[in-house]
Amino acid sequence: MDAKARNCLLQYREALERDIRTSYIMDHMISDGGLTVLEEEKVKIEPTQQQRAAMLIKIILKKDNYSYISFYNALLHEGYRELAALLHGGVPVVSSSTGKDSAGGITSYVRTVLCEGGVPQRPVVFVTRKKLVNAIQQKLFKLNGDPGWVTVYGMAGCGKSVLAAEAVRDHTLLEDCFPGGVHWVSVGKQDKSGLLMKLQNLCTRLSQDDSFSQRLPLNIEEAKDRLRILMLRKHPRSLLILDDVWDPWVLKAFDNQCQILLTTRDKSVTDSVMGSKYVVPVESGLGKEKGLEILSLFVNMKKADLPEEAHSIIRECKVVECRHWGIFADLLHKWNQPEENTCVLRLQNICDC
Ligand SMILES: Nc1ncnc2c1ncn2[C@@H]1O[C@H](COP(=O)(O)OP(=O)(O)OP(=O)(O)O)[C@@H](O)[C@H]1O
Ligand SMILES: [Mg+2]
Repeated sequence: MDAKARNCLLQYREALERDIRTSYIMDHMISDGGLTVLEEEKVKIEPTQQQRAAMLIKIILKKDNYSYISFYNALLHEGYRELAALLHGGVPVVSSSTGKDSAGGITSYVRTVLCEGGVPQRPVVFVTRKKLVNAIQQKLFKLNGDPGWVTVYGMAGCGKSVLAAEAVRDHTLLEDCFPGGVHWVSVGKQDKSGLLMKLQNLCTRLSQDDSFSQRLPLNIEEAKDRLRILMLRKHPRSLLILDDVWDPWVLKAFDNQCQILLTTRDKSVTDSVMGSKYVVPVESGLGKEKGLEILSLFVNMKKADLPEEAHSIIRECKVVECRHWGIFADLLHKWNQPEENTCVLRLQNICDC
């Protein structure tokens, strides 16, 4: 859902929760596809009118622009003109065709889910790696709703984190496999207290819209229990993404019957965890041809038009690592400037390390 629509709902949440009667509004929303019958059931089981309204708004907040519009139209139909007027400013402009149209095939639903889950954005210059992204997605589909692990592994800087983020940037995958959303955790190299802090932060994130706030878990064991309950009760069918895992003992804290996608340099980190396991290896470098292709993207030129220097840069390197792509482009820009020798030196430094 667009930020403007979302803000409107949040801003007038109190008035909406106080005044609306949910049953007829939901009938309208179901008839135009803005709400599912399952979601209606979730609202209906709430004991009071106000709680039902609160649940309906909570559900809409997790949905897309179409649900917002459907809710707005339902308010108008049911005579809540004043409330509809409050939401009018947030009504998003949407494409008249499919609702899945959007830049690069990324729908507003995908954008919202990834943004809420803390998934990093694409690098400014982005190179598609379709085969690898598909391989990760296939493994995620294979989890089929059951607990398990998909491990993306490879050398430092080979693009694992970018690939993991890219794999979940997909409407169908999110809708079919992880309707509960995704939660990105940058794990990194940790000691016990570092891990506890990561777990505490994750628990806080996952229990954010709780009306009561619990105290933070005091140790890893307690945090693990809290996480299990939160994932089971509040975030079923969601995906936990553990980025940059270094140590197998860290994974014990997450070995909780969840669905997990993780990136690591060390394939053996999942050796002692439970559940189905799938792996996707990422090669450490790219071929020279792909290297030239990438360089051409970075400097915004056709591959055939690249100057000889570009070929020298790629020839000089034994492997073309993703983390060096930006630097190569920078070198190419500066190649003919007076500090050319510095460029050669920088290039040699990169390629030797
Ligand atoms: N598909 C891509 N398109 C453009 N740039 C990329 C791509 N993949 C990686 N990069 C560049 O390479 C850098 C390193 O990528 P990334 O962080 O994904 O590597 P990693 O394998 O996760 O590294 P580490 O093992 O250190 O965690 C990124 O910050 C980005 O600049
Ligand atoms: Mg990484």
